[in-house]
Amino acid sequence: MKSTTIFGVLLASAQVQAHAVLTYPAWRGNNLLSNESFPFGMARTYPCGGMPLTTNRTFYPLDGSGAFAFEPGWSPGHGLNAVYINLCIGPGEGSDAKEVANCSLTITGPLELKGPHDNQYEGQVCIPRLGLPKGVVPKKGDLASLQVVQIVKHGAALYSCADIIFTDDLAQVPAVNETNCFNSSGLSLKPAKFIADGDAAAAGSGAAAMMQNSGLLSAAFGLMVFAYLL
Ligand SMILES: *[C@@H]1O[C@H](CO)[C@@H](O)[C@H](O)[C@H]1NC(C)=O
Ligand SMILES: *[C@@H]1O[C@H](CO)[C@@H](O)[C@H](O)[C@H]1NC(C)=O
Ligand SMILES: *[C@@H]1O[C@H](CO)[C@@H](O)[C@H](O)[C@H]1NC(C)=O
Ligand SMILES: *[C@@H]1O[C@H](CO)[C@@H](O)[C@H](O)[C@H]1NC(C)=O
Ligand SMILES: *[C@@H]1O[C@H](CO)[C@@H](O)[C@H](O)[C@H]1NC(C)=O
Repeated sequence: MKSTTIFGVLLASAQVQAHAVLTYPAWRGNNLLSNESFPFGMARTYPCGGMPLTTNRTFYPLDGSGAFAFEPGWSPGHGLNAVYINLCIGPGEGSDAKEVANCSLTITGPLELKGPHDNQYEGQVCIPRLGLPKGVVPKKGDLASLQVVQIVKHGAALYSCADIIFTDDLAQVPAVNETNCFNSSGLSLKPAKFIADGDAAAAGSGAAAMMQNSGLLSAAFGLMVFAYLL
């Protein structure tokens, strides 16, 4: 009998258009589809890839020391990605808002995520201790969402969110272990930074050579290129 991985199940159940599956904390739900409402793929909808706010939130450590794991390779064209992981705050206590209030608080990014090739691929990356955006000090019980933004070939951005609730009781936080937090071989994640075209020229041959070495110039990320942070 054919063994069915979750990859296979999701592939079968939706026309896969793009993007990242969040495996830790769990995502809002499967947004790997396109239909009449989302002809270019649901995942392209800001802020959370078209999925509405959920109520089954994952407890997350108050100091931000939780993990963050996702599978980036769900469609062709994701060999090279820029990734941001942001904290979306809200809705505030007692608010009946149907969506987060603000996703402009970057926890980490831009990161350069490379897959094994430009076709669909399996595998995940995991940041064991994600941290919090600078200056953000949540309170116990605060509601928030972790948002991953994946910028792919041609500059389109794909979104997905995991809804969390901050807690100081680590017993409530789902365990992080080698089953849910690992880096698959063939995937690499490292800090990157954007350099505007003009800046790259001004930065001189050293930077240009570095970018060429990284193979990123040929990837043509719109008007921007990446250079590695050393
Ligand atoms: C919440 O429920 C939805 C729908 O059942 C599911 O897809 C999602 O993974 C759940 N999220 C968590 C954090 O368990
Ligand atoms: C497209 O899929 C979304 C998510 O399942 C659903 O909410 C929406 O109604 C669908 N649109 C159409 C036109 O089927
Ligand atoms: C979101 O938060 C950022 C950082 O605190 C702030 O600069 C920005 O004005 C906020 N945006 C909105 C729409 O509230
Ligand atoms: C890893 O932690 C998850 C909960 O996040 C749990 O379901 C799973 O059984 C754990 N795996 C191992 C090998 O301990
Ligand atoms: C995965 O790779 C990133 C980037 O090198 C690293 O920060 C992280 O600790 C790795 N995750 C695990 C579980 O080793």
